[in-house]
Amino acid sequence: MNQAEKERAAKIGKRFTPKKYIENEIAAIRKQVGDKKVLLAMSGGVDSSVCAVLLHKAIGKQLTCVFVDHGCMRKNEAKEVKRVFKGKFGINLIQIDAEARFLEKAKGITDPEAKRKAIGGEFIRVFEEEAAKLGKIEFLGQGTIYPDIIESGVGGHKAVKAHHNVGGLPKDIGFEGLVEPVKYLYKDEVRKVGRALGIPDEMVDRQPFPGPGLAVRCLGELTKEKLDILREADFIFRSEMAKAKLDKKAQQFFAIMTNAKSTGVKNGARTFGYVIALRAVATQQFVQAGVVELPFKFVVDVAGKIATKVKGVNRVVWDITPKPPATIEWE
Ligand code: XMP
Repeated sequence: MNQAEKERAAKIGKRFTPKKYIENEIAAIRKQVGDKKVLLAMSGGVDSSVCAVLLHKAIGKQLTCVFVDHGCMRKNEAKEVKRVFKGKFGINLIQIDAEARFLEKAKGITDPEAKRKAIGGEFIRVFEEEAAKLGKIEFLGQGTIYPDIIESGVGGHKAVKAHHNVGGLPKDIGFEGLVEPVKYLYKDEVRKVGRALGIPDEMVDRQPFPGPGLAVRCLGELTKEKLDILREADFIFRSEMAKAKLDKKAQQFFAIMTNAKSTGVKNGARTFGYVIALRAVATQQFVQAGVVELPFKFVVDVAGKIATKVKGVNRVVWDITPKPPATIEWE
């Protein structure tokens, strides 16, 4: 056993049970934090959501969560986060609508990595500004999970890739320490803990969503027009997958704004609209991924719905490329 494995074994014991884990973790958080305060960046993803509820159960109002809407969120995402975490759980949650600010920062940038950097950098600035407004907060909460530690090469494991979540904040922004209550859990265990905490299924079962959000699925310059079109197309695709009960067949499925335009025809008149791509992949570890075979009629129906209902779109294509050679995201 290497160091990380030993630490995980010590934390979990012989057999993982959500109830026991929650009890132990609440006690551990209380011991670490005492009467001090914790700040947590929430993304709406499973890991930070579970983290938020665990922290809230342990220290209540000593926790402040910040959700930064960078304008590349999916449809209704910010609203849902508010409804569940502020409404249902009563968590002290601050939502920042920073769409205009992020779009301004990303203006004119078309290179995928430069876009990521612009968004990641701005995210940290927004978060820092918010933290400064809140006065002294001693701890930073983080939804780090066990595979993140393995992937980043900590604990004697070989690094697979640099951990690149936008939520991954630098440690030098003036906190006494980190609180990472799901650090030794695998993803399925995080979901089990989430369910046991009463987080709704649609949030616990959420597919992974990259930190930069739709930015890595919106090719070319980021504009509100393109992102809005993508949000609508993606919403239709995800709703139809759920309705047809196909959503458990793929680990990730989403729409992509290709930035290409093509000719079409609507009500007898020529149109020139965007091409939307759809992608559904099955994968264990996200290092390799296969294309999910969905019923062809379903695929054609969804494409038709998007091409007719989403203003500005007149063509939909299906991505049939595995990883490798393609990556899961388009950027
Ligand atoms: P790729 O596209 O590299 O994606 O095959 C593998 C997994 O990583 C996610 N991904 C990201 N997650 N920030 C993230 O937090 C990113 O910049 C990012 N890029 C890709 C992707 O959704 C997939 O699950």
